[in-house]
Amino acid sequence: MSTYDDVRGLRASRNFRDEPLSPEHLAAILEAARWTGSSKNTQKWRFVVVDDPDGAARIASAGRFTRAITNAPVTIVLVKTAGGNDFDIGRAAQNIMLAAQALGIGSCPITLHDMDRAAEVLGLPGGDEAHYAVALGYVDREAEEAERRERRAGGWGGRRDDVIDHLEA
Ligand SMILES: Cc1cc2nc3c(=O)[nH]c(=O)nc-3n(C[C@H](O)[C@H](O)[C@H](O)COP(=O)(O)O)c2cc1C
Repeated sequence: MSTYDDVRGLRASRNFRDEPLSPEHLAAILEAARWTGSSKNTQKWRFVVVDDPDGAARIASAGRFTRAITNAPVTIVLVKTAGGNDFDIGRAAQNIMLAAQALGIGSCPITLHDMDRAAEVLGLPGGDEAHYAVALGYVDREAEEAERRERRAGGWGGRRDDVIDHLEA
């Protein structure tokens, strides 16, 4: 697959095989996260790896739609440290997902709606926030396809084709 294909074809996956992520794959994904560009190169982030079922259950309790976390062998929680900005965190999340995709690994962005709970689970200092995480794993293709078929049948999961505008000359 070309880089373009990875970007164009990236989808969220929530069904993973019961298989740990290889240490090499995890290290490569974290390296991609670390190398994300940030505003004024401030790098105001931390990447917290959650790779055990108890930790996954605890961090999952901070969000409303967190099935992907409890299904996944690894979740990376993106912590925005004091003074950081949301755009940078979004870029880092997308880099994590694209690096994973390039390595044949599926991923799902997750919202941690209850940021106080997430901060408590992670023991964050005041001023640091964890609003998003990315669940990662080797995709259970059969389960994922079945879920995707169901979503399509419900008219969900495509992309709008009316979202491009051009500034008039
Ligand atoms: C900011 C953001 C937050 C998201 N939060 C969740 C979430 O909490 N739980 C979840 O299962 N998916 C979550 N998603 C995944 C979206 O539901 C998914 O990107 C969207 O449905 C498109 O899916 P597709 O790429 O597979 O078509 C989130 C995505 C984004 C960009």
